[in-house]
Amino acid sequence: MTPERTLVLVKPDGVQRLLAGRILARFEERGLRIVGLKLVQVDRALAERHYAVHRGKPFFEGLLDFITSAPLVAMALEGPNAIALVRSMVGATRPHEAAPGTIRGDYAVETAQNLVHASDGPETAAEELALWFEPSELLDYPRDIDRWVLAPGS
Ligand code: CMP
Repeated sequence: MTPERTLVLVKPDGVQRLLAGRILARFEERGLRIVGLKLVQVDRALAERHYAVHRGKPFFEGLLDFITSAPLVAMALEGPNAIALVRSMVGATRPHEAAPGTIRGDYAVETAQNLVHASDGPETAAEELALWFEPSELLDYPRDIDRWVLAPGS
């Protein structure tokens, strides 16, 4: 099937807790490919656009304060059904509802500091990837990557 692309943010709490590599490794071990990756200090304008759907909610200003408070890791991941697959690996928004084995279920206890953001559908993924990455920052792999990754030199 045609692979999907999705946006994942390791939010400032994940970076501060030195969990960015561990979280990235989970996605790699599952078999997703990194097609974009950067450390970003987000400004308020980008944060407001990213979280526009939450404008007016009681936690909105605090969410903006938090997401702009320190560097985060933005990544674009690619693979079959990547959007749903990543969401299932991240777990429920509220960590006490996140199943053990998910990222939030294993590492988070507070909704406001739930470590990771992941796009929730195809439209959101397209919008968010365009918001966080320039087209030139999203890379393609050679068509035969599976062969040379699985059997180098063969
Ligand atoms: P995220 O997946 O990044 O999308 C919106 C974020 O808002 C969510 O994760 C939480 O971190 C945050 N959030 C959602 N609900 C609340 C809440 N009730 N109080 C504080 N933060 C919240």
